[in-house]
Amino acid sequence: MKLKDRVALITGGASGIGRGIALAMAKEGAKVVIVDLNDEAGEKTLAELKEFSDALYIHKDISVRENLSELVQEVVEHFGELNILVNNAHVSRQKPFMETTPEDVALSFNTGYFATFYLMQEAYEELKKSNGKVINFASGAGINGQPTQAAYASAKEAIRGLTRVVANEWGPDGINVNIISPLALTSGIEIWSKHDPEQYNKMVNGIPLRYVGDPEQDIGRVAVFLASEDSKYITGQTIMVDGGTTKIY
Ligand SMILES: NC(=O)c1ccc[n+]([C@@H]2O[C@H](COP(=O)([O-])OP(=O)(O)OC[C@H]3O[C@@H](n4cnc5c(N)ncnc54)[C@H](O)[C@@H]3O)[C@@H](O)[C@H]2O)c1
Repeated sequence: MKLKDRVALITGGASGIGRGIALAMAKEGAKVVIVDLNDEAGEKTLAELKEFSDALYIHKDISVRENLSELVQEVVEHFGELNILVNNAHVSRQKPFMETTPEDVALSFNTGYFATFYLMQEAYEELKKSNGKVINFASGAGINGQPTQAAYASAKEAIRGLTRVVANEWGPDGINVNIISPLALTSGIEIWSKHDPEQYNKMVNGIPLRYVGDPEQDIGRVAVFLASEDSKYITGQTIMVDGGTTKIY
C-alpha cells in the first residue's frame, strides 16, 4: 500500500490513461478524486474505484479557469486534504499547421497547458503541507514535432517548460513535480487500430517493446511510483513511458 490514505486528484480520470492511473492509485490505498465531463464514464469508473478505496467523481470542465479553485476546494472539503495532483486531461485537433485556427490553439492550451498551470497554483497550499506530488503530461508528438500536431505539440512542450520551473521553485517545499510522456491503448487508439490496421501495425512495429502500453499496468504503475516516496529524489523530469519509442538525452 504505497499510497495509503493519500488523496489524489486526477483530471480526465473517467477514461483512458486517467482511469488507469486512478485504478492503480486506488489499489495502492489512495483516496481518488476523478474530474471529467463524461458522466457516464465517470460514474462507471467511480464504481470500479470504490471496490478498492474511497473515491469521488466531480463533473467539471477543467478548461474554465474559475472551475479550478472550486475543484480544489471540493476535494479538500470532501477528503480534508490534497496530496497528489495528476494533470492528465488534454484535448486537441490534428491539422496541418497552416490550417490550425486560434480556436484549435485555444482548445489545446485551455484543456492542457492552462488547466495544468492554474491547478498547480490552486493546489500549492495543500501540496506543501504534505510533500505533495504533481504529475503532468507530455507527448512524443511534442518532443518529436509530429506533423499535424502544432496546437497539441506546442502546449505539451509548454507544459514541460512550466514543469521544470515549478519543480525548481517547489523543491525547497518538498514537492516533486514530474512528467509522464505515455503511449497507451485508449479507446481513441483502439478505434483507429480497427479503422486502419496497417498503419496501427506499422506503429506497433516501431515500438522497441512491440506493444502499445496498458493504461493501468504500464502507465498507472509509473504514476504510483511518481506519487510515492520511492521517487522522492526525482523532480523536474520527463519520464518516457512509451515502450522505448522516444529517447530523450
Ligand atoms: N494515449 C496515448 O497514447 C497518449 C500519448 C501521448 C500523450 N498522451 C497524453 O496522456 C493524457 C491522457 O491521454 P488519453 O489518451 O487517456 O486521453 P483520452 O482522450 O482518452 O481521455 C481524456 C479524458 O479527459 C476528459 N476530458 C476532456 N476534456 C475535459 C475537460 N475540459 N474537463 C474535464 N475532463 C475532460 C475526457 O472526457 C476523457 O475522459 C493526455 O494528456 C494526452 O495528451 C496520451
